[in-house]
Amino acid sequence: MNRRPTYDVDLYSNEVVVNPYPHYRAIRDLGEAVWLEQHSMWAIGRHLDARNALSAHNIFISGKGVAANNLSNGNSPGNLLASDPPLHTHLRKVVSKPLHPKALARIKPRIEASAGSLIDRLLARKSFDGILDLAQFLPISIVSEMVGLPDAGRRNMLEYAAAVFDLFGVDNTRTEAALPIVIKMRKYLSEQATRDKVLPEGWIAGLYDAVDLGLIKQEQVQTLMRDYLGPSLDTTIFAIGHLLHLFGQYPDQWKLLRQEPNRVGNAINEAIRLESPIRGFTRVLSQDYTIGGIKLFTGDRVLILYASANRDERRWDEPEKFDICRVLTDHVGFGYGIHQCVGMQLARLEMRSVLTAMIARVSKIKILGAPVYAKNNVLRGLETLPIKFSR
Ligand code: HEM
Repeated sequence: MNRRPTYDVDLYSNEVVVNPYPHYRAIRDLGEAVWLEQHSMWAIGRHLDARNALSAHNIFISGKGVAANNLSNGNSPGNLLASDPPLHTHLRKVVSKPLHPKALARIKPRIEASAGSLIDRLLARKSFDGILDLAQFLPISIVSEMVGLPDAGRRNMLEYAAAVFDLFGVDNTRTEAALPIVIKMRKYLSEQATRDKVLPEGWIAGLYDAVDLGLIKQEQVQTLMRDYLGPSLDTTIFAIGHLLHLFGQYPDQWKLLRQEPNRVGNAINEAIRLESPIRGFTRVLSQDYTIGGIKLFTGDRVLILYASANRDERRWDEPEKFDICRVLTDHVGFGYGIHQCVGMQLARLEMRSVLTAMIARVSKIKILGAPVYAKNNVLRGLETLPIKFSR
């Protein structure tokens, strides 16, 4: 007989958003796939099953949207995130162009120098906010410029991005509050993110160039802008915030990283594993799918919980521990398969630059008070983190 494990908790309530991990454990323990009573969709929380689902992109499709509400899913298809092959394969070539390591090599020296002088300035202060003064700095001062919106739009990118991620959740008050912000930004984009107004070297200008080359149609430009505007800032800000918070909580790991700086790449992966900035996206089943004796049906929506898979005790020893020596080749914090994060090299470059600048200068990271978690339907990260560095 088919099993149908169920879980009757609102995964998007404030309480769960701030501390989702006990609920993810409960979901993992209930089974390979669990029916979420309050959201009428399945959740996959175990590492192996999440990886299998993400690699079966012809069964777990993105083209019907990756949000958990119908309104957003009805509006989103057509961009890279919410498309399937062959369209996805084609769009990925266009969108990824400015995010390849070769393209990033040009801005690497600027990011590294900027990170160095930032850490110098912060060391001179008695205390500072780890998010507003540190984590936001590179994404806002450099990445937002690379995206290439005119100034007014650039200033609103953070508000817009947070709203976009809220809209990936279920219908709730956060989604309701986000909708007018996203509508306003879309109006702005259609009127102001025009070829003559965007920065000529920016990523958005690259989309207009792709139109000239016959790679995409003019009307696709605005849809594809979303692949840059939504995920390029907050995700990385939250990841840098998590790094700071974790190293502040684990001074032995900071000492170890300073002794063995070649572990920087691994430390970044470990922070993304343990505190995944994107908790989960959904897919729709294009055919029936059986998993561990649990039958899911064509058309069912499935929430794939990266943040849960990354703490699955079936995969990781002591999953709740921050350990920069852990072997980490298969975490899913950047996703997995064809939709794996197209901006991850940029995100890694920013994180690496911050950590490398800190390794050379900061001997002690002291957290001065309780951090405040942002309340977002999909993102997990800190809003504020009072902190102090010592040489
Ligand atoms: C630490 C920072 C970041 C994290 C944790 C992150 C995480 C993710 C995850 C989990 C996915 C998979 C989505 C899926 O399975 O449907 C994804 C996809 C994506 N990310 Fe990131 N991301 C980060 C930074 C960035 C940056 C800086 C950009 C720059 C534009 C970006 C652009 C995208 C895009 C366009 C996709 C869709 C790719 C596709 O569908 O083929 N991300 N990201």
